[in-house]
Amino acid sequence: MTNKTVMMIFGTRPEAIKLAPVVLDMQRDGRGLSPLVCVTGQHRQMLDQVNEWFGITPDVDLNLMQADQGLPEFAGRALASLTHVLKERRPDAILVQGDTTTAMIGTLAAFYQRVPVGHVEAGLRTRDLHNPFPEEMNRRVTSVIASQHFAPTDQAAQALIAEQVDASRVFVVGNTVIDALRITLARRVDLGPDCGRANGRRLVLVTAHRRESFGPAFESICQGIRKIADRNQDLEFVYPVHLNPNVREPVARHLAGHPRIRLIEPLRYEQFVHLMSACYLILTDSGGIQEEATALGKPTLIMRNTTERPEAVSAGAAMLVGTDAERIADAAERLLNNCDMYRSMSHCACPFGDGHSAGRILDILAEHLN
Ligand code: UD1
Ligand code: UDP
Repeated sequence: MTNKTVMMIFGTRPEAIKLAPVVLDMQRDGRGLSPLVCVTGQHRQMLDQVNEWFGITPDVDLNLMQADQGLPEFAGRALASLTHVLKERRPDAILVQGDTTTAMIGTLAAFYQRVPVGHVEAGLRTRDLHNPFPEEMNRRVTSVIASQHFAPTDQAAQALIAEQVDASRVFVVGNTVIDALRITLARRVDLGPDCGRANGRRLVLVTAHRRESFGPAFESICQGIRKIADRNQDLEFVYPVHLNPNVREPVARHLAGHPRIRLIEPLRYEQFVHLMSACYLILTDSGGIQEEATALGKPTLIMRNTTERPEAVSAGAAMLVGTDAERIADAAERLLNNCDMYRSMSHCACPFGDGHSAGRILDILAEHLN
């Protein structure tokens, strides 16, 4: 049996986290598949940190990130560079993950070179093309082109089939984010000075970075966080602030200097996982954190108007609270003052997987490619 080369293309922190279990599994027992890791460097520091934690050294690093990059400019650079790499390396298939510009452009570049695409975390939908922006478009385009769709849940698989994707090419495998979480929780972690220090108060972990919220909605999210802090003296907030300058400016303007809100640099993934485990409540607009928080039993308020992970809400682990400051603050207070509600939100079955998704993906890939 000749080995088939599978090029894994990724560029941001969440893709690196969710593809790491696949890369590691393929390196360990490729089932006749040879891994080739190609990073666009859509993110730099936040990507490198994850690869370092999982011990992954990219074979190709396009190093494309620029400060405050625009979507068209990054997409153009990525399409040209990835095309060059695909022509040079000629993989038998590529794998992309999720809904970033790297994932969508990697898919498009592979289509032009007639290389088959496997899509990890396929079928997530809000059905609003502009929300989240540009991710809903990115994942829909990826679904049109991909030839294998690795859906994390039944609901995601059904969404693909409803869009006329051939059902025999859709596989429900769980989400590899749970594999990454398990690997990380099983290892010893150096927690660093910013993890878990709550000064005897309840710890609230905050993240927010979505492009569709930039402007008034993001200002309102910041105001909501400040209101919760002002009204509840028994809370201590930790907010690792995303490196995007469009996030850092409003966050600093609204929240810096508050005595119980600590604004810190993005945490290393393994430290962030342990901080999630240690906190009382999570406020976020992140996709991946909705999944991890559900797995860890941490009640979560999703500061967005839509979610492509409705499973977290239907499981009872998360609430979709929008971006209005007063609504965010009200929802937090209801939860903080209601022990029964808190208990029920923290004891939900996790609908996102069992930690064995990477192995399933590789079994399917190996069967199809060999
Ligand atoms: C990207 C993804 C988004 C994902 C998010 C995860 C797109 C369009 N967006 O958004 O889906 O949820 O990553 O975090 O693909 N920066 C750094 N260093 C880093 C990372 C970012 O300095 O390691 C700064 C740079 O100024 C960069 C900016 O952040 O230009 C924006 O990065 P970009 O990847 O374009 O967008 P994100 O908002 O991070
Ligand atoms: N994360 C991290 N450090 C942080 C904040 C988040 O490692 O300071 C991890 C988190 O555990 C999750 C992922 O980053 O796995 C989520 O990334 P992000 O919210 O940037 O993107 P999204 O999931 O919304 O696409």
